[in-house]
Amino acid sequence: MIPQDTIAQIFESSRVEEVIQDYITLKKRGVNMIGNCPFHNEKTPSFTVSPTKGIYKCFGCGKAGNAVNFMMDHEQMTYPEALRYLAKKYNIEIEEKEQTPEQVQAQSSRESLQIVNSYAQKYFSDQLLNTDEGKSIALSYFKERGYTEETIKKFQLGYNPSKWDSFTSSAIKAGYKEEFLLKAGLTKGEPKKRFDFFKGRVMFPIHNITGRVIAFGGRILTNDKKTAKYFNSPETELYNKSKVLYGLYYAKQSIVKKNVCLLVEGYTDVISMSQRGIENVVSSSGTSLTEGQIKLIQRYTPNITILFDGDVAGIKASFRGIDMILKEGLNVKVVLFPDGEDPDSYAKKLSKPELEDFIDTNAKDFIRFKSDLLLEDAKNDPIKKADLVKEILATIAVISDEVKRSIYMTECSSRFDISERALYNELNKTLRNNFKSERRTNDYKTEEIPVLEYKEEQKSSISLDSGLDHLEKDIIRLLVNYGDVEVVFHQKSEKEEEEEVVITAAEYIIHTLENDEIKFENSIYQKIFNHYSSWVHEEIKIDVKKLFLNTDIDVVETVVSLSSNKYELSLNWKEKHNIYVSTEDMKLKFALEHSVLALQLKKIEINIQEIQEKLKGIDDDEEMLILLTSQLTFIELKKMISDKLNRIILK
Ligand code: CTP
Ligand code: MN
Repeated sequence: MIPQDTIAQIFESSRVEEVIQDYITLKKRGVNMIGNCPFHNEKTPSFTVSPTKGIYKCFGCGKAGNAVNFMMDHEQMTYPEALRYLAKKYNIEIEEKEQTPEQVQAQSSRESLQIVNSYAQKYFSDQLLNTDEGKSIALSYFKERGYTEETIKKFQLGYNPSKWDSFTSSAIKAGYKEEFLLKAGLTKGEPKKRFDFFKGRVMFPIHNITGRVIAFGGRILTNDKKTAKYFNSPETELYNKSKVLYGLYYAKQSIVKKNVCLLVEGYTDVISMSQRGIENVVSSSGTSLTEGQIKLIQRYTPNITILFDGDVAGIKASFRGIDMILKEGLNVKVVLFPDGEDPDSYAKKLSKPELEDFIDTNAKDFIRFKSDLLLEDAKNDPIKKADLVKEILATIAVISDEVKRSIYMTECSSRFDISERALYNELNKTLRNNFKSERRTNDYKTEEIPVLEYKEEQKSSISLDSGLDHLEKDIIRLLVNYGDVEVVFHQKSEKEEEEEVVITAAEYIIHTLENDEIKFENSIYQKIFNHYSSWVHEEIKIDVKKLFLNTDIDVVETVVSLSSNKYELSLNWKEKHNIYVSTEDMKLKFALEHSVLALQLKKIEINIQEIQEKLKGIDDDEEMLILLTSQLTFIELKKMISDKLNRIILK
């Protein structure tokens, strides 16, 4: 039992923003802080923390509460577990007697596993550093691999002696229950014949995000091919393999600072890179990334760079997994290491600046990397090349940001020397298929995949299978994400001369739609539009961040949910290939013109439909004439707008 006044003290001392920041990155937004919600899948932050009020609230999924709620909800802790955790974090002493066996038993299984793992880690460290066997066999092994004492301490490396049951018997002697030793996978065998699972291995503790040991990897000391190089702890209530990344606890701050996460294969790669001073490194422990691991990375950065050692077959096998990373909205680059080298060996050969430089100059955008690799295979075989284009398009199709995707399409077109239109035809097929199968499995996601109609024979129905709301949303999405970006438009002057005008995307949208007196059906979109409109008219700087502080919570929620991370890749392209600057501008311009025209077209079609409804029930000749005349006007307009749409699409 925790005394009532201690509980009160824990509540008072806990800073909700600090507690949450152990798990996710929060950015300051005025008096509040905001981040990607850890409770549901999101690409744009809607999780808001109020340090002054001591609460959090997610505008996406509705989760809300204080620091204690957070720990209970996020870590599946019980109320006392959460209180104990916070007490420890804030150095508040809980006056409890030494734990009796009954109390130990009463603890949840999670907590017991935690305690057992923590004991094991200390035991293994002690064996490594303070025993003859440890020093002569294991410590010398680590030293031979170049690990400094500091590194060994930092990663809490250890050694499980080679005697049959040295760990198990010492744990039992210290009062730990066999039940949990078995459950944690540290102990094996029948009653009375228990033995250490990891005996004779060097130990790599695996930490959760708060730095607690939740599992182990144990490596043999020889290169004996007969036994598995690594043994790993089994999954437990504490350790869900697919939701853990090795090294993340040590890497998270550096990942945020550098705004990129480096992904390597193994424990030793993480440790060697870190020792060399490159700390934003995690490992998926030899398997391909899972969705849970991607989400974990996404809490800290949208950018991931995968470091491959030179095994081409292995790289190809990982392509599917990488598509999944792209689909989650991350920007993926890859670095290929020279033959025979991996991050572990290379980190030992190169100095920190050399290694950083190597990664920098060799990091290739994934889609480009994949094209190159496959192109090499296809050489000049046209059939292989066609398959390869399909492969690449399948990858591009998983990217949901339209602007991002069009940039890749342009790149792909010039690379494979295939017209963009042909590529869009193929992309459409893939998108439609994805769309259909997604609709079947996952209703709420379908919205995010706009199906583009680029087919020539259907050109007059561009985007029209999208509903009005979708078209309105597209415009607001462009406003929110690209409103302040300047675009060059060409206009005919009064003297019929071509002239260039440079205006912001917001100015373009506001002026065009206001000129047509288009109003949004969705009142929140209209409100957002009105904000941008007043900025444009009053010549106030366009900055979406101002809307995050809006008192209208619906506006905030929508703006926050529609704003996404700016396209990071294009910046690199700008630096490396001047040519892409204009391409990117062109694509934004295309997206602007396309979405405005599509909305205009939709509005006109709705008008025509309304007129036709009215015409059905009308007797008065004069009124009918008026309606027919205005219908004609709309039909003319519709034709004009459709033509414009076709023109920009076929340009
Ligand atoms: N792995 C495993 N079981 C194995 C082999 C590998 O769990 N039998 C996992 C480990 O997490 C390992 C990762 O896959 O870290 C990468 O494997 P590998 O490159 O073989 O191991 P390294 O950690 O690089 O070890 P070393 O440098 O000592 O060869
Ligand atoms: Mn390796």
